[in-house]
Formats: sequence, structure tokens, C-alpha cells
Amino acid sequence: MAPPSTALPGRTLISASAIQRRVRTLAHDIRTHYGDHPLTVVGLMNGSLFFLTDLTRHLPPHTRIECWRVASYRGRTSTGKLRGLDAVISGDYRGRHVLIVDDILDTGLTLHHVQRKLRALHAADIKICVLLKKEVSRRHRLNAHWVGFSIPNRFVIGYGLDLNHAYRTLPMIRVLPEARKEKSLA
Ligand code: IMP
Ligand code: MG
Repeated sequence: MAPPSTALPGRTLISASAIQRRVRTLAHDIRTHYGDHPLTVVGLMNGSLFFLTDLTRHLPPHTRIECWRVASYRGRTSTGKLRGLDAVISGDYRGRHVLIVDDILDTGLTLHHVQRKLRALHAADIKICVLLKKEVSRRHRLNAHWVGFSIPNRFVIGYGLDLNHAYRTLPMIRVLPEARKEKSLA
């Protein structure tokens, strides 16, 4: 049995039903934009696992899906480096319209490098859809074409987003209390 929600860290920021409603309207906007044009969706794993699944269920049957496994975070902080892109060899992106789907736009590092990789693979058109966008000044300037929700600059978990590999399975997005300052050992 699932633990009671009071046993979960933080508080609910976006409910499961609000996520599902928003995912449907995003999918509708994406369908309207691409029409019958052949589309490849690249989902960034593991964070976009549930978002990718729920979103693409509403896209046309000829939509291709690829999953790229990349990571930049350790615990609650960005490492500033993106691991995993060297392993991307599968799929044929040349001349394709590609939609990158990710859980959250934070510093922009991930999407910047993924976009660059897709350009190198000669994708004809690259657009970005994220479920969440943090209100921060970004290290890498980039334009997310579809955004589910704008959220404050806080660490969130649930609906695919993890803290040290836990909490991905939660159906809602929860925001954690601000991390306490590490005690100085000096
Ligand atoms: P960026 O590369 O700094 O834009 O960060 C994007 C990636 O970092 C996302 O795809 C997430 O996997 C992870 N990330 C950023 N912020 C959070 C958060 O608040 N909770 C969990 N993961 C996060
Ligand atoms: Mg990610």
C-alpha cells in the first residue's frame, strides 16, 4: 500500500489531476502545430518517463519515440556536466522534425547539449517541450516551445523527477523545503 501523503517530503505543488489536464492540452497544441508532418519525439530519461508516456499517447500513430539517457544532477545540485550523450547512436534523425521532451528546464545545460547533438545528427527542425520550467536566470539561453508549468526555483520531486533515485513514482509534483546550509567544519 502507498504511504500516506503526510509521510512524503515537502508539499504538493501540482496535483496529479492538474498534471493530466495540462498534458492533454499540451498534446493538443503539439498535434495542431505538426499536423500530419512526420515527427520524432526524443524523451530524456529517466526524468521524462511518465511525461513522455502520457504526452505521446495523444500524438498520431506514426509518431516515432526515442529515449536518450542523460544526467546532469547529483542529489539536489547540477554537476554542470552532461553524461550520456556519447552513447546516442540509435535512430535516424537526418531531415526529421524532432521534439525533445524533458521533465524540467533548470540551468538549460541538458537541453543545450541535446539540441547541439541533434543538429550534428542533421535533424531538420528541433523543438522543445518541458513539463516544468524553473524561474531562474539560465546559464544557457534557449527557447522551450511548449511549457507545462512555470515554477519557483526550488527542488521538486514526483511524476518522474527524483531525489537520489527516489520519489519518481509519485503521481503529483511536490516541492521540498529549502536545503539547510551545510554546517561548516572549519
Ligand atoms: P538542467 O540541465 O540544469 O536544465 O537540468 C535539467 C535536468 O536536471 C532535468 O532534466 C532533471 O533531470 C534535473 N533537475 C533539475 N531540477 C530538478 C529538480 O528540481 N528536481 C529533480 N530533478 C531536477
Ligand atoms: Mg533529466
